[in-house]
Amino acid sequence: MEDYGRFLALLASTLLVGFVSVILSLVWVFHYREGLSWDGSQGEFNWHPVLVITGFVFIQGIAIIVYRLPWTWKCSKLLMKFIHAGLNTIAMILAIVSMVAVFEFHNAKNIPNMYSLHSWIGLTAVIFYSLQLLLGFAVFLLPFAPVHLRVVLMPIHIYSGLTIFATVIATALMGITEKLIFSLKNPAYSASPPEATLVNCLGLLLVIFGSLVLWMASRPHWKRPPAENAKILRLNAATPEGTQVESTMTNSSNADKSDLRINTEAARKQNINFDEAGQRSTM
Ligand code: HEM
Ligand code: HEM
Repeated sequence: MEDYGRFLALLASTLLVGFVSVILSLVWVFHYREGLSWDGSQGEFNWHPVLVITGFVFIQGIAIIVYRLPWTWKCSKLLMKFIHAGLNTIAMILAIVSMVAVFEFHNAKNIPNMYSLHSWIGLTAVIFYSLQLLLGFAVFLLPFAPVHLRVVLMPIHIYSGLTIFATVIATALMGITEKLIFSLKNPAYSASPPEATLVNCLGLLLVIFGSLVLWMASRPHWKRPPAENAKILRLNAATPEGTQVESTMTNSSNADKSDLRINTEAARKQNINFDEAGQRSTM
């Protein structure tokens, strides 16, 4: 891998910043607020920031960069898909529980629902995240989608995944700001009490975490190598025109194997185009 040392340094920083963010959210709710409970009180609201920061920010961030860990490149793509999908599913579950907590808290206290920009953008992110997860399962994990559909959808999957992740970070910043303005009264937010400083630092760390994940996920030379397509291309090159070749891959799912039937010059050209488009490991 190119720049292995730099990759490791960035990964370690990302994990550290993400971990410290989760700890700071716990320090915030336990030291400065009413801790955690499930009884319609402030303690129930507090699950909202803790679970979104743990699940929707930290675990989602790890799920996004998991394909890029070089020591996983010898593992089968299918295993990595399960890990990527599994982490995203955990993030989704935690995000949903955090939504239930804030809605129940609002209902218990007769506070109107869905009035703020934070809640609009936040709910939109959750809805798109669920769609992304369902489509991810349907297209890239289940053995039904043909390879050309996977190839067409992969850039959209990556673009929407990164956009949702960035939107989640922005939503968290809005939520944090709102909460500080609502709850810091005496002394007020503007007087910079220690709670405000701590939580401002949390917001700063979330931005740093998001930037590190986006940087790592957008470096082309850190992408999981396209071993499977390279094999297919090698196979094609050695095959006379018009003969049908079944993929001999041992590492991937039956879906992958059955989809990868490439026998014409056009198919070979298309495959090279996929390579040129940087979508080589979409199978
Ligand atoms: C409310 C989503 C992060 C603070 C809400 C609501 C949604 C939501 C949908 C509306 C609940 C209702 O109307 O009953 C999200 C999402 C987040 C996130 C998707 C992902 C990052 C945070 C964070 C905080 C926070 C980190 C910090 C404490 C609040 C507050 C409310 C709220 C104070 C009540 C006021 C309002 O409706 O805007 N959130 N939130 N949120 N959230 Fe978040
Ligand atoms: C790649 C996001 C769910 C399969 C990616 C990437 C992102 C992403 C940002 C680019 C990673 C990179 O370039 O290294 C998400 C999000 C999901 C989700 C936010 C959930 C909401 C799924 C599911 C599957 C899946 C359920 C099914 C297995 C893939 C595959 C890749 C990928 C095959 C290509 C990895 C590669 O070859 O480099 N995803 N994804 N994703 N995702 Fe997802």
